Amino acid sequence: MHEYRNDFPMLKQNYIYFNSASTALKPQSVIDAMNEYYEKYSVNTNRGVDSLGYMVTKKYENVREDIAQFMNAKAEEIIFTRGTTSSLNMVAKFLEPSIQENDEIIVSIHEHHANFVPWQQLCHRKKAILKIVKTKIDGTVDLDDLQNIMSEKTKIVALNHISNVFGGINPIKEIAKIVHKYPAYLVIDGAQGIVHEKVDMQEMDADFYAFSGHKIYGPTGIGVLYGKYDILEKMEPVEYGGEMIDIVTVDKTTYKKPPYCFEAGTMMIAEAIGLGKAIQYINSVGYEKMNTHVKEVRNYLIKKLTTEVKDIVIYNRNIVDSNLVTFTIKGIHSHDVASHLDSKKIIVRAGHHCASPLMESLGVTSTIRVSLAFYNTKEECDKLVNALKEVGDYLNVLFK
Ligand SMILES: Cc1ncc(COP(=O)(O)O)c(C=O)c1O
Repeated sequence: MHEYRNDFPMLKQNYIYFNSASTALKPQSVIDAMNEYYEKYSVNTNRGVDSLGYMVTKKYENVREDIAQFMNAKAEEIIFTRGTTSSLNMVAKFLEPSIQENDEIIVSIHEHHANFVPWQQLCHRKKAILKIVKTKIDGTVDLDDLQNIMSEKTKIVALNHISNVFGGINPIKEIAKIVHKYPAYLVIDGAQGIVHEKVDMQEMDADFYAFSGHKIYGPTGIGVLYGKYDILEKMEPVEYGGEMIDIVTVDKTTYKKPPYCFEAGTMMIAEAIGLGKAIQYINSVGYEKMNTHVKEVRNYLIKKLTTEVKDIVIYNRNIVDSNLVTFTIKGIHSHDVASHLDSKKIIVRAGHHCASPLMESLGVTSTIRVSLAFYNTKEECDKLVNALKEVGDYLNVLFK
């Protein structure tokens, strides 16, 4: 996969980038498309009758269609948002009116805060109950437990497609079969999922699926909320203004149909165009090729870490399809490890990974996470392992 490295300008700066689960690097084609928008046709969408405005609106809507095709959904089911967090908060606002006192919302301990706090806060506001479904050793949902704790009181089940700490893949289709035996909505946080595998909304049968552009090699500041159209039709807008309206009089306002009624104000136009290019880029490389390479590099890395780095504890070693390696080194704080790696221009993530309830359940305050993408190489892993082998000595010198 070395041939693709030239597509990523950031890699020319000699960083070793192992933090793609936080935000992926952007290929030149994404950057160029956004620059082209600003340089050649930097006008607003839906705002005028001029030919540039028409062209930009068409480009923006074409991206919506491309995303729909990418996810096997309909274009009118694709809402542009600021990212996964904003998509999930939007769903929480959509569903708030349907929650009564003592209703139940189910999440797992492996959720990112973006798919935990909105539900916790909704429960606080409505005096509803937040339930935690059991998870297996790989962090995926225990389907028997889900079946056991579901009831007529369950109104929402909100789960990750792939966790950002362990990388286990939840069987969404199976989960949907259980959830849809009850009058409950299934909300999927796909921030890590869509990076890793082709998603198919018809097959998965989730009611909502959220993801961020910047994790799939696209720009920051844009994401997507997919929602089944018959559900979206019943939802109230969460923001007002701009082109989401149909007719406004002094006394009342009517709104456009979904998804437009959920896109208030000037939208992220350059970012949408960049996201469209990112999707083209993924399609041109292909998930299978990316994943085969990542798997090979990860197996290589895990073998080296376990045989060469003293006192390492890897939390997700046996999850074969994960692109993540999450670990601690006994007696050394994760932040110190990351600072040492940073001094060698090796970028990893250290901290709670926005998954504090999970960290608490693991009995740690932080871990180090190496997240691999298809542009990472075995040579980079060698450098990482060498740097980790020195980390104890580095700290001894520093604090002597
Ligand atoms: C599983 C998961 N959910 C949600 C998010 C939040 O994404 P964003 O910050 O792009 O809204 C992340 C980001 O790390 C994530 O990994």
